[in-house]
Amino acid sequence: MAIISSKKQSPQPERPDENIFFASEKKTSYKTKKSQSQSESAELDALLAVEATTEEKGSNQNEEKIRPQRLDEYIGQKDLKEVLNIAISAAKSRKESLDHLLLYGPPGLGKTTMSLILAAEMEVNCKITTAPAIEKPRDIVGLLVGLQKGDILFIDEIHRLSKMTEEILYPAMEDFRLDITVGQGKTSKTRSIPLKPFTLVGATTRVGSLTSPLRDRFGIIQRLRFYEVDELSLIIIRAAKLLNTDITEDGAEEVARRSRGTPRIANRLLRRVRDYSEVKKLTPINAEVAGEALELFNVDPLGLDWTDRNLLRTMIENYNGGPAGLETMAAATGEDAQTIEEVYEPYLMQIGFMQRTPRGRVVTSAGWRHLGFSPPDEQLSLKL
Ligand code: ADE
Repeated sequence: MAIISSKKQSPQPERPDENIFFASEKKTSYKTKKSQSQSESAELDALLAVEATTEEKGSNQNEEKIRPQRLDEYIGQKDLKEVLNIAISAAKSRKESLDHLLLYGPPGLGKTTMSLILAAEMEVNCKITTAPAIEKPRDIVGLLVGLQKGDILFIDEIHRLSKMTEEILYPAMEDFRLDITVGQGKTSKTRSIPLKPFTLVGATTRVGSLTSPLRDRFGIIQRLRFYEVDELSLIIIRAAKLLNTDITEDGAEEVARRSRGTPRIANRLLRRVRDYSEVKKLTPINAEVAGEALELFNVDPLGLDWTDRNLLRTMIENYNGGPAGLETMAAATGEDAQTIEEVYEPYLMQIGFMQRTPRGRVVTSAGWRHLGFSPPDEQLSLKL
């Protein structure tokens, strides 16, 4: 994904951030080495002159090639597309920027793609960043002042913004204004700097972790849901065409069924299957070829990989299927608790293999059977 990073200007004032505060900051007792009048304007200028640059990180050319560019190429998420179509038409006819948009849901469902599509539809630029990359006030200020009228600023993992960054965003989102306090103590001055109207698109896998003041500033809040097999089949057929790969309808469906409702996984599996079919000279990719290839890559018929199965097996073998707490599961499997919660569990719950209960996670009888275990009587009598 493309990451926007703030590049330092040269020459740099000495620790510029520490003498420039935002209206929301409580910090009042920092002693600067420079005389205030000298440093204030230079520091403010330096902060506002921070240049935003884009770097492509980890994005590969194939991925870009198959990313849909316009709303009518985007398959699935029917309700979201309808909502956005209306918002785009209304904003265009009023010649305004789009309302701020919050997209939430499991990873890989197309939040970044949707943000790029919105920019294409609105004929504006899209700057992409992620909350952990916004470390200092200068980072978010640099991004905001660099936006042109109507531009989209996409912030991934928006629930991870620092409090200070969030508070800079409040007036920016509400009134397209930056409130900057220069200096401190009695001589400090607050300056309001106008911004060009822009659209913030926030993406998160944990909408419940957003603070309510931030959440309330989004005009549109939309969930992305897992894709159906027929939607993923169409996505795979479209991607295969763009990659010049020969795949049959049942081949695409076989890959789709193992893609955990997620286009990012579907496209990844398609590339693995394409490698297999090319090396083994088995073309076109039909259901049999796709199945063989994905067995080789340890992706089972429902799309569970080694980690999914390990989570379920550990719960069954060590905790009699649960209930087991998230931290217990993380310790027992060596996986990161957040990754279990955000990446693995949503799909296991979606296919009915796991439930979250007030006492912890429980494997359902369907989950026991899928791993080849007989569910205990108590599990059956609980009708999980
Ligand atoms: N590639 C990834 N996601 C897609 C989608 N929703 N529609 C079409 N192609 C895609």
